[in-house]
Amino acid sequence: MRPNLGAVRLAASAAWTLSGNDIGTMITAAPRLYPHMWSWDTAFISIGLAHLNVARAARELETLLGAQWRNGMIPHIVFSEGTGYFPGPERWGAAELNTDAPNAPRTSGICQPPVHAIALRRIVDIARSQGQRDVAFKLLKTAWPKLYRWHEWLVRHRDPLGTGMLAIVHGWESGMDNSPRWDLPYAEVVPGPDLPPYVRLDRGLVAADAERPSDAEYDRYLWLIEEMRKVRYDADAVVRTSSFLVGDVFVTALFALASEVLATLGEESEQPPWRIRQLRGWARRSRAAVAAAYDPRTGLARDRDLRGDRWLSTSTIAGFAPLLCGGLPVDAEKSMLATLTGPEWAGHPALFARIPPSVSPNDVGFRPKEYWRGPMWPVIAWLFGWAFAQRGWQEESDHLRSECLRLAADGSFAEYYHPVTGEPLGSRQQSWTATVVLDWLHTS
Ligand code: SER
Repeated sequence: MRPNLGAVRLAASAAWTLSGNDIGTMITAAPRLYPHMWSWDTAFISIGLAHLNVARAARELETLLGAQWRNGMIPHIVFSEGTGYFPGPERWGAAELNTDAPNAPRTSGICQPPVHAIALRRIVDIARSQGQRDVAFKLLKTAWPKLYRWHEWLVRHRDPLGTGMLAIVHGWESGMDNSPRWDLPYAEVVPGPDLPPYVRLDRGLVAADAERPSDAEYDRYLWLIEEMRKVRYDADAVVRTSSFLVGDVFVTALFALASEVLATLGEESEQPPWRIRQLRGWARRSRAAVAAAYDPRTGLARDRDLRGDRWLSTSTIAGFAPLLCGGLPVDAEKSMLATLTGPEWAGHPALFARIPPSVSPNDVGFRPKEYWRGPMWPVIAWLFGWAFAQRGWQEESDHLRSECLRLAADGSFAEYYHPVTGEPLGSRQQSWTATVVLDWLHTS
């Protein structure tokens, strides 16, 4: 039978998981599979940490921000001294090739979804609720300008159409590495004969190879790094030359949401009014771009393949991006919310918990064990739950929270879960799963 830890033991196990993944200089994303700091993982990790120790949460976020590139990019990996992960800093060669990259700590050369302002908002609120206004204020003062520069970098270098739709140059930048969203654009990525040989280290660290991306997918992931190395990670040259360039509707929605959040945080910490206005302008533009990606035929939003100049229509969780940031006409939004909770998605009768999986169970491409091709990711449910609460949809938010807590009640803190059986999949003791559980347990 599936264990059920109960709230108190679950909270204690989550805290234990985080302290187990604390290697002194950082909290790693997971003990063996991911022995480094990942950008969006760390945003979520700092939220959970805030419930345990606000100063520790602030330090974690500051460690990530300390690795920000001089041009403003927050890199997707900040490497620890730990080994056992591929591609490591040598394969990326970021600091060797680009003077904007820090020499220490070492980093990768791409980025991840901009959820950091949401983490800052959450930490500041938790700190205030604990009467720690000074810690909150100090963190706001140091982190805000860095997050502003990060958002500015995204606008300056990742909006090639000038419409507010932000582009990614690698599936890893979406955080949803092997999602069917990227199948068509990846089909056009042809690894050259000069792809240096490599050995995957993720194989064997999860129960079954089928829970991870395939070798063919990895060849393409590594080839894109080679292409970026050739232009020395110059941000604009990467956008010009990468054989993968996609307007990511989910990243764009997160950017719109996070820019609004950052603007409000800016008001609270007396940041320059013109910067606050600018952030709200970016949010407006990106919200409009997300709304323009909406497809009335499917009721979902689409990504845009900028190399192939075509819409990418897939039945994935990213299609609900407009619910995160708003911008759709009321009727379309209402029907999208009904789709999310209805039988095609979270309300599908076969599901273990009423949470939207990464791909609709009715889709022909649904693979319930395969990473971003079907499993449920608690952290994604948290994002929707948080956004819904901001938008005043408290009932829907509470529902996601209670269903996710039921899914995570086994205390494995898996990276992702089988949507039908609730079986834990991928890595165990994944920090971000532990921390979103902690946050939910503290939100009543
Ligand atoms: N998520 C990727 C991995 O699985 C890296 O960013 O290794």
